[in-house]
Amino acid sequence: MLQIQQNVSLINFNTFGVDVNARYFVEINHPEDLAELFMDPQWQQIERLVIGGGSNMLLIKDFEGLAIHMNIRGIEHRINHQEVFVEAGAGEVWNDLVNYCVQRGFAGMENLSLIPGSVGASPIQNIGAYGVELKDVFSSCKAFEIATGNFRTFSKVDCGFGYRESVFKSELAGQYIIVSVKFDLSLTPNLNLKYGAIEQELEVRGITNPTIKDVSRVVSHIRVAKLPDPSTIGNAGSFFKNPVITTAQFAPIQQQHPDIINYPAGDGLVKLAAGWLIEQCGWKGKVVGNTGTWKNQALVLVNHGGATGQEVYNFSSQIIDSVYTKFGVNLQREVNIIG
Ligand code: EPU
Repeated sequence: MLQIQQNVSLINFNTFGVDVNARYFVEINHPEDLAELFMDPQWQQIERLVIGGGSNMLLIKDFEGLAIHMNIRGIEHRINHQEVFVEAGAGEVWNDLVNYCVQRGFAGMENLSLIPGSVGASPIQNIGAYGVELKDVFSSCKAFEIATGNFRTFSKVDCGFGYRESVFKSELAGQYIIVSVKFDLSLTPNLNLKYGAIEQELEVRGITNPTIKDVSRVVSHIRVAKLPDPSTIGNAGSFFKNPVITTAQFAPIQQQHPDIINYPAGDGLVKLAAGWLIEQCGWKGKVVGNTGTWKNQALVLVNHGGATGQEVYNFSSQIIDSVYTKFGVNLQREVNIIG
């Protein structure tokens, strides 16, 4: 029998560490729990908030609807020659899954080490780091359709993955709840070392022929050095997306700021480093009230203790304004704003 609790603090369910209450709260431990929950029409009508690791959202105020905490566990794998098929429950911690795979020599996820959050949330924004995105290892996912009570399998194409994008964030937003994800990995590593400081860090360690364990360790080391640990300093990783603009828009900006960091993004598009833009506006490491940006990565907004969601949100608006004034570039928030 499902337990619906009332007026539950969400402080332990969001990595920003914002203290707001959910009017109703339920924990889902099995896919069938969702069918049971939505048999009662009152939960169809009320506003819902699905929480995995709570690592990509900012709660602005008390949530008046039903918070659904996904806690479906379990990881299984099957090997066929060099190919490895892995399936994980939505409530598994993403990095536990990465470790499960890395320890067994299942290659493909090593660059995605230490990304906060849950397995079920990973397809929603197509998580990525160090030159690899979820879509590179994703095979399919199973999701519960709230309106019909049916389960549906989404192939990679069905998911419409883009940079920090999928159908679950756009046209199907709020309609499905992901219950499990399948991954396609390999026993033959195809290492991706080009991005960021991976090669340098391997060199420092004297590693010339890296294994996936080495890559995972190095990526974890780089992340720990650059990003704040949410268990001590509340944050939700990158607060903004890296803006993608056209080469025509980019040309005059580059003329004015010749050292601007940029990456080709295909098809006459250029991706800018939001962290760099924010740093150039003087925000890096700034403390403003209880919030601010992280000292080693200006793209990460932090809660220095006791910040409200509104305070962090207002601060993010200030950053958006100053980046727009200096560069004429509009930053988009990457975290989900709730409330
Ligand atoms: N940079 C600055 N100042 C800063 C931050 C960055 O000049 O304060 C420069 C860096 O020196 C580098 C460039 O900007 O030249 C890019 O920085 P970084 O390599 O740290 O990566 P990012 O583009 O800022 C993205 C992802 C991160 C992911 C890293 C590594 C987004 C929004 N963020 O950040 O993902 O870990 O690449 O692959 O795409 C997340 O999404 O929560 C996240 C942490």
